[in-house]
Amino acid sequence: MTSHLIAPHGGTLVDLTVSNERAAEIKSHSRDWPSWDLTPRQLCDLELLSNGGFSPLTGFLTKADYESVCEKMRLASGTLWPMPITLDVSQEFADKLKQGDQVALRDAEGVMLAVITVEDIWTPDREAEAKAVFGTTDKSHPAVGYLMNQSKPVYVGGKVEALQPPLHYDYRLLRHSPAQLREEFAKRGWRKVVAFQTRNPMHRAHHELTLRAAKEQEANLLVHPVVGMTKPGDVDHYTRVRCYQAIMNHYPQNTAYLSLLPLAMRMGGPREAIWHAIIRRNYGCTHLVVGRDHAGPGKDSTGKPYYGPYDAQELMKKHEEELGVKMVDFKMMVFVPDEDKYYPVDELPKDKKTLDISGTELRDRLALGTEIPAWFSYPDVVKELRRSHPARGKQGFTVFFTGLSGSGKSTIANVLLSKLLELGGRPITILDGDLVRKNLSSELGFSKEHRDINIRRIGFVAAEITKHRGIAICAPIAPYDNIRKEVRTMIAPHGGFILVHVNTTVEECEKRDRKGLYAKARAGIIKEFTGISDPYDVPDDAEVVIDTLELTAEEAAQEIFLRLEKEGYICADE
Ligand code: PPS
Repeated sequence: MTSHLIAPHGGTLVDLTVSNERAAEIKSHSRDWPSWDLTPRQLCDLELLSNGGFSPLTGFLTKADYESVCEKMRLASGTLWPMPITLDVSQEFADKLKQGDQVALRDAEGVMLAVITVEDIWTPDREAEAKAVFGTTDKSHPAVGYLMNQSKPVYVGGKVEALQPPLHYDYRLLRHSPAQLREEFAKRGWRKVVAFQTRNPMHRAHHELTLRAAKEQEANLLVHPVVGMTKPGDVDHYTRVRCYQAIMNHYPQNTAYLSLLPLAMRMGGPREAIWHAIIRRNYGCTHLVVGRDHAGPGKDSTGKPYYGPYDAQELMKKHEEELGVKMVDFKMMVFVPDEDKYYPVDELPKDKKTLDISGTELRDRLALGTEIPAWFSYPDVVKELRRSHPARGKQGFTVFFTGLSGSGKSTIANVLLSKLLELGGRPITILDGDLVRKNLSSELGFSKEHRDINIRRIGFVAAEITKHRGIAICAPIAPYDNIRKEVRTMIAPHGGFILVHVNTTVEECEKRDRKGLYAKARAGIIKEFTGISDPYDVPDDAEVVIDTLELTAEEAAQEIFLRLEKEGYICADE
């Protein structure tokens, strides 16, 4: 179909997919080739290389292109290109490669998706790359942290031939290659298209601003959220897509289109904005909404923002003509309740009261189940958010006891169990030390290594229980601080985590010696006994500390119960 859509970056829409004959040839030869299992980020990059989202790139960057991109933001040919798209491999793998070799690129299941013909193999200076591309070597910048800690040390550059796109089973109807999206636009007669890049759920302000942007430019709107890799901690893409689907119903008919972009974001601020514009151009868009701190990673480890609020807009402006994609300035939209209307911040009527809800406040309102007003977000969007982020009273949680053998952990855990069972409403599992050692960890001993494995297993099970909105009560000794902290990070994203230190002294435990173990430990019959011949790290991060000399088991359980109530995990109306 002939149309008047914008030409892709570099003039031609790249499609690296080979013919059936070539695919058969590749498959028959691949038996003798080395295979590289692609990382999640490489998979995202491969998809956009293959389908032309990264036009004019035809493979992973060669050394000359890489150096030129880092230094000048251009390919060696001079074409504007801001982001190094590199294939990083281990030293061991690289040692087996030479120029001209072919490498099968496979997904996690081993399916061959593509082949790269090796042109260059080199060890990059990753610190210099971080400085040149992201303007910092601070590892708290997500892309810099990735580069320094996760990237493999050797890069392999060369042309790619694609056999099949990476497999996606989710939201297939909303995924399009640049060619497919261009065809959609052509069918609809859309020539001017404003792209809206997002990695967050969209609320009323986003709706107003995108609608305005499209109207002002007399263009249509592409809502183009990233569903590849975004910033760690973002709302998961399943929830976000349901929110986007809900908000699409609020645009006038035939003005807006939703498509998902399998991009692995770098959070690279200004350079990332240029990259986003190039990608959107390849998908047939003529405009890109760029706001304050576009694709910014937030603040560095000293609390300073990585990029100035307008750096991305300035860099976009500077290259706007060459990019061929117009920047639509993303103005903060503010709600004026008197007029029941949103205004761009620079067009606010004088002396009018305005309302806003910050990201933190929104999270708090979701956690507490309090009202999220319709002026802030459409109720159908809020409904989706609430389904994935129920109020704390409906979330799961873990109560994790730690303390010496015989400190009273199990007794208090059992009193707490009864109290929670009386309350009802959520399924409860108790993971007591002895119980776990019998059922999950029967082969383990008491070395640091084995204790860590044991606690990690408990953490894994408790995280699953918490995720499924149940209650896990764990009561191992868990003597090591590092592993307790690891367990906290496994569980906290899914619900509550309360660490309870049952702070009974070793002298007191030994005096009670209910199981006779301390006597055996003193006699050397039991080795590596916590508190006697093995260490116990006293926690510095316990939510509740119980002194069993001061409190009865009932009183201790009540302390924990009150703490859970205070945090909102148990509510009066349950
Ligand atoms: S750990 O460190 O968290 O993996 O220990 P845990 O799984 O809770 O197991 C502790 C129970 O095993 C008994 N036991 C020992 N404890 C400590 N050190 C040594 N060497 C040891 N050998 C056996 C002891 O009964 C512990 O149970 P509790 O309920 O804590 O008294």
